[in-house]
Amino acid sequence: MMIDKRLIGKVEESKKYIAGNVLVQWISLLANIVMMFVITRLLAGLYYETASKSDMLQTLLISLVVVVIRFVCAIAASKMSYLSSKAVKKKLREMIYEKLLKLGASYHTKVNTSEIVQLAVEGVDQLETYFGAYLPQFFYAMIAPLTLFVVLSFVNMTAAVMLLICVPLIPVAIAAVQTWAKKLLSKYWGQYTALGDTFLENLQGLTTLKIYQSDAYKNEQMNEESEKFRKITMKVLTMQLNSITIMDLIAYGGAALGVIIAVQKFAAGEVTLAGSLLIILLAADFFIPMRMLGSFFHIAMNGMAASGKIFKLLDLQENPQGEREFPEHGDIQMREVRFSYEEEREILKGIDMTFAERSFTAIVGESGCGKSTIASLLMTKNSGYQGSIRVGETELSEISEESLMKHVTYISHNSYLFKGSVRENLLLAKPDADDARLWEVLEQTNLAEFLRGENGLETEVLEKGANLSGGQCQRLALARAILHDTPIYIFDEATSNIDVESENDIIQRIYELAERKTIILISHRLANVVKSDRIYVLKDGVVTEEGTHAQLLEKDGHYAGLWNAQQSLENFGTKEQSAKTNSDEKIETEQAVDKHSTEKNFDEEHRKEAAHEEKN
Ligand SMILES: Nc1ncnc2c1ncn2[C@@H]1O[C@H](COP(=O)(O)OP(=O)(O)O)[C@@H](O)[C@H]1O
Ligand SMILES: [Mg+2]
Repeated sequence: MMIDKRLIGKVEESKKYIAGNVLVQWISLLANIVMMFVITRLLAGLYYETASKSDMLQTLLISLVVVVIRFVCAIAASKMSYLSSKAVKKKLREMIYEKLLKLGASYHTKVNTSEIVQLAVEGVDQLETYFGAYLPQFFYAMIAPLTLFVVLSFVNMTAAVMLLICVPLIPVAIAAVQTWAKKLLSKYWGQYTALGDTFLENLQGLTTLKIYQSDAYKNEQMNEESEKFRKITMKVLTMQLNSITIMDLIAYGGAALGVIIAVQKFAAGEVTLAGSLLIILLAADFFIPMRMLGSFFHIAMNGMAASGKIFKLLDLQENPQGEREFPEHGDIQMREVRFSYEEEREILKGIDMTFAERSFTAIVGESGCGKSTIASLLMTKNSGYQGSIRVGETELSEISEESLMKHVTYISHNSYLFKGSVRENLLLAKPDADDARLWEVLEQTNLAEFLRGENGLETEVLEKGANLSGGQCQRLALARAILHDTPIYIFDEATSNIDVESENDIIQRIYELAERKTIILISHRLANVVKSDRIYVLKDGVVTEEGTHAQLLEKDGHYAGLWNAQQSLENFGTKEQSAKTNSDEKIETEQAVDKHSTEKNFDEEHRKEAAHEEKN
């Protein structure tokens, strides 16, 4: 009930430290009993005036030795609890980390990132008290009263029995509040992670919130969450304080009882003076370990609630992992692929696509039609599709994630850049690449010149590339991708943050890459896909048209419509700028530029809106 077998089972290593901790505490107790014994004997001797000088000296010596022993024991005990909690923390964090690796790229569909961070940091820290203090105290609190009972039973049986009977009242009181406490703490943790989620999200989106002046509203929302958290925290504290008061009453009441019994027995002549003094001095020691256990208990409970959450994470079902290798050759074929994130809202409605080896295939379509969803299925970031996706003869789901990652590189419009140098960011993709190779890919992505002006390969990159422009981030991500050198590349709006000139340039590089690689390019800008070997036009999760650019124009359907709209818009934009007229459209363009600089990707929506207007 008060010991989580599963948790302890997970951390075998800490068992020996816990046992060691209990042992040194017990030795310390024995030493204390010896000291009390000689002191009470001396006191009685002094009272009856039978004590000699050598008795006093002997008592002093023994007491000194005992003090030294207890000092050493205290140090050893804290060392043991440090070692045991260290072992636990290390082990649990490793387990969480391994679990995340096993959950793979799709982990975020099952747990929140902020929740994992909170569990792995705070949650695991909470277990420190459980392993370092609570568990050893749990065993010591059993052994100590029994030891004292055995010792005092030689002095007076009635007193020893009375004291022993009172000790279990403390755990009974603890158990009484436990059920209540458990619910409360589980709620507390729920509220804590909820607050963390909101906080992280609002912090990440702060710029956006400012732009839309919604920060006040979100602030209000967070205040409400914090208020809830404050209330539940106060409840937890009240509960802890109340139960500590109860425990104190029992502990000191029990000790007082010991004193009363000792005095009575002495008065009745059943116990010697030394004996009754010993009972008085040791009575409190019956209760102190249990009382300590009680105060660790609440902190430990908190850790237990956290451990419940940790185990929930560790118990998450892992996607069945394929064992097979990614085939070195073969086309990728999607047949009748259906997929939905939520029930009753199908996103992909029977997709048939073929991505031929070493060819350039494009997927185009309006925002929200399911292009990225297709990419994420290919990267197995979302599982549970119907139909089949095959690479050569092998079903994608049978291929191990590791092998997949070695064969396919996915580049989105917000590929993650890590805090560190340009070199570090690049070497992620190919740890053994030499500088010449790094400069080569930087050259290819037109970053070399800029970086030479900075600090070369040592140029610092902040978290998420915050100190680079959107275009520079994109180029660096692209350079890293090229360095990865996999047979298959998926570009999902990878150039959407870049100005048109460099976009054309990078697209050109991607076409060059296609001479050796299989390329899947997702783009809203049709100018990018003109030279594709095959273009799929997607609408509401269905492929409506396919073919080359020329074939699709000839069909004069959806694609042709989009193409004409985008062409006239792009030409219109350049004319407009040179003419410097003051039309409404000019203002539109300025707004688009303004948004572009503040909010990445917004121009995409804008171009589409404008294209739509143009069509009507
Ligand atoms: N994680 C998700 N959970 C639920 N719905 C999603 C999720 N991701 C995308 N969708 C929905 O799936 C549809 C297709 O999204 P997506 O594939 O990202 O479109 P595209 O890349 O073509 O713009 C959209 O309607 C979107 O709302
Ligand atoms: Mg998309």
